[in-house]
Amino acid sequence: MIAGMETSPAPNPLAGRVALVSGANRGIGLAVARGIAERGATTYLGARHLAAGEAAAAALRADDLAAHAVQLDVGDPASIAAAVATVDAAHGRLDVLVNNAGVLVYDNALDVDPDTANRFWTINALGPWLLAAAAAPLMRRNGWGRIVNVSTEMASFARMTTSAPTYRVSKVALNAVTRVLALELEGSGILVNALSPGWVRTEMGGPDAPRSIEQGCASILWGVDLPADGPTGGYFQDGAELPW
Ligand SMILES: NC(=O)c1ccc[n+]([C@@H]2O[C@H](COP(=O)([O-])OP(=O)(O)OC[C@H]3O[C@@H](n4cnc5c(N)ncnc54)[C@H](OP(=O)(O)O)[C@@H]3O)[C@@H](O)[C@H]2O)c1
Repeated sequence: MIAGMETSPAPNPLAGRVALVSGANRGIGLAVARGIAERGATTYLGARHLAAGEAAAAALRADDLAAHAVQLDVGDPASIAAAVATVDAAHGRLDVLVNNAGVLVYDNALDVDPDTANRFWTINALGPWLLAAAAAPLMRRNGWGRIVNVSTEMASFARMTTSAPTYRVSKVALNAVTRVLALELEGSGILVNALSPGWVRTEMGGPDAPRSIEQGCASILWGVDLPADGPTGGYFQDGAELPW
């Protein structure tokens, strides 16, 4: 070994691994998918509309990355099962899941709309839960997995405000999903964490957000890059714990 190189990271730390990112056709999800593919994993870009996923995957392949698109609507349990089955049939494994797909609405707690609230719970919390439950058995086969649930500072009880309550409550549920999954999977080699990207300039975050997509993406990829003895069941932004 060359002196001084002992601590250099492996060039492709995820070589041989397979990853799935939901909502990967744009925004933070697309950047995360690229980051994972650049780490050497064969990366599936989940997209509600397959054509949008195909276009995003083609752009990654043009840069010599191993990327594929898969139809994935996290509001549809059949689509979730089919997406994981597609990855399983092609590779017999799934090592990394990033539950990134999400929706935001600015509403008012006293005008809560039941249809909207149900849709938000379904997309922002139940969908990620079902996807993780479908992915976990594949991860168990190799005793290794990373599940990253893309949360938000807006889910912190300690930082609760009146803005966007339906979104906040759905992401609080996602944080709880993170905890129960992490406890269920303790000792399995599968680490499950809720990670906040911060306020990021995407379609969701808008042009006034202080953070770039690259900054938000780095905060998420931290949970993918965790070592075997890394945390599980935690809530982090930029590698630092957030208050529940
Ligand atoms: N941007 C921020 O400031 C910020 C802050 C905190 C947390 N986050 C979280 O970060 C994640 C990504 O946000 P973003 O800013 O990148 O948002 P974005 O640009 O609005 O992208 C959202 C992604 O989610 C997908 N999506 C929405 N509903 C879906 C469904 N039912 N099934 C599958 N995919 C679906 C969208 O697909 P379509 O293109 O088909 O709509 C799109 O790919 C979200 O979970 C969000 O809550 C964002």
